[in-house]
Amino acid sequence: MTEGILVVYYSLTGNTELIAESIAEAINADLLKIEPNKEISQEGGKKFLWGGKQSIMHEKPELQPYSINPEDYNTLILGTPVWAWNYSPPIRSFIEKHDLKNKNIGIWVCCMGKPKRALRKLQRRLYANNILGITSFIEPLKHDPEKSAQKAKEWASSLIKTAKADDRSPAETSESAEPGEPS
Ligand SMILES: Cc1cc2nc3c(=O)[nH]c(=O)nc-3n(C[C@H](O)[C@H](O)[C@H](O)COP(=O)(O)O)c2cc1C
Repeated sequence: MTEGILVVYYSLTGNTELIAESIAEAINADLLKIEPNKEISQEGGKKFLWGGKQSIMHEKPELQPYSINPEDYNTLILGTPVWAWNYSPPIRSFIEKHDLKNKNIGIWVCCMGKPKRALRKLQRRLYANNILGITSFIEPLKHDPEKSAQKAKEWASSLIKTAKADDRSPAETSESAEPGEPS
């Protein structure tokens, strides 16, 4: 059964969106794009400055309203860009806004190359749920978008199989600490 699956994501520059759309298509899931009321500039330096500040300060920007209720779904597949070694502020707002407990959850992040801390933080924040699997993508729009989309589809399909089998082991278990990172 693929009913009851929601793909939720935030994306400033389209990478996370590419993955979200690929996943939703592959497993026939509903799609919810999280958008802040006040979006930061996409411009080079500005986006790092303001986005980085928001992330480091653990800000929770107000979100635009959406009609889907994520709490109605058993399975959520959640995607975010990495901002300052963390998940993005709009996804922080989303998680704060909803009572996410006892859900099946898959997590992916898009980043320039350091996904593990953000993945770990998101996993910890969602500790009251059954984490089906985690994965990451390095700038998929720059590096072979088709290959990334294919990887996303295969990962999502494997997650759903995991959910069906009610297997609690993560679908991707090779994540380990980055050098120099506190455990
Ligand atoms: C404010 C800001 C902070 C970022 N911090 C990191 C980081 O700490 N590590 C990393 O690997 N990439 C970082 N990135 C790069 C993004 O995670 C990456 O470009 C991602 O693919 C963007 O996803 P999007 O196109 O869906 O917005 C940062 C980008 C921004 C805008």
